[in-house]
Amino acid sequence: MTANPFFPLDEMNTESDDTTMMVFPQVDQSIYERRRQMVDTVVDYKEMRMRYSCAIKEVRTKFDVLNSEFNVRYQRNPITSINSRLKSSTSIMRKLDSKELSFTLENVEKYLFDVAGIRVVCSYVDDIYMLAKALAKQDDITVLKEKDYIRNPKPNGYRSYHMIVSVPVFFSDRTKNMAVEVQIRTIAMDFWASLEHQLKYKQEVPNQQEIVRQLSECAEQIASVDKQMWQVRQQIEMSEDIPTKEEILLEKLSRIDIAINE
Ligand code: GTP
Ligand code: MG
Repeated sequence: MTANPFFPLDEMNTESDDTTMMVFPQVDQSIYERRRQMVDTVVDYKEMRMRYSCAIKEVRTKFDVLNSEFNVRYQRNPITSINSRLKSSTSIMRKLDSKELSFTLENVEKYLFDVAGIRVVCSYVDDIYMLAKALAKQDDITVLKEKDYIRNPKPNGYRSYHMIVSVPVFFSDRTKNMAVEVQIRTIAMDFWASLEHQLKYKQEVPNQQEIVRQLSECAEQIASVDKQMWQVRQQIEMSEDIPTKEEILLEKLSRIDIAINE
């Protein structure tokens, strides 16, 4: 045993060199082993959450880049907001329960695809498809699943474009492909979905049927307004005069001053 200047020899347990015995002097080895396994699992779970959180950052950056590109090239932002969330541990446990799966890290990574979620809100419907296509064609993105609830709305009226993508995340010792759920929708669709979501969490709502009917009606009206807004924007864009060479040059010059979103 080497002398430690901070612990004089007479104060140390000179019986053993085993540091574990110093930490848990009274603990039986089997109990210690179980504790160790539990701590390992907790640390691994925390690491897994960190990996999903990094995957969200990767995908979010991809949308930020597309928004900046559009801002500089066409002077408009297709994205009005981006929200992301990491599924809570309680929700992860509930979802595994509903699939009759035990709570293991392997099951989370193999069977749950919405641990990392990102919601992109746009002004116009055509931007949704443009963004979905731009994301899907990126070299490091693999689309695992796509659901077009805009062309095929849910019976309740829900509309959104859903994708499950796999993105590589580069860590110091390895690269992990992580699944991220992406929802792309218009401001109006988002408005509708947040109100409808409230209904799901209410146990007993009087006039439930009437509320469902009204929500379905709102969804139709929203879809019609979304379509009209897009058509109006197209008409405005098409009616713009054909610029002269001088105007094109001046317009290009003016883009230099556009602030790039950071
Ligand atoms: P989940 O098990 O709920 O994740 O559904 P799923 O695996 O069948 O996937 P889906 O793509 O249908 O839905 C994924 C997510 O989209 C949900 O977790 C909600 O956030 C959203 N979503 C889907 N349907 C509705 C709906 O009818 N209303 C609202 N408000 N949100 C919905
Ligand atoms: Mg979900």
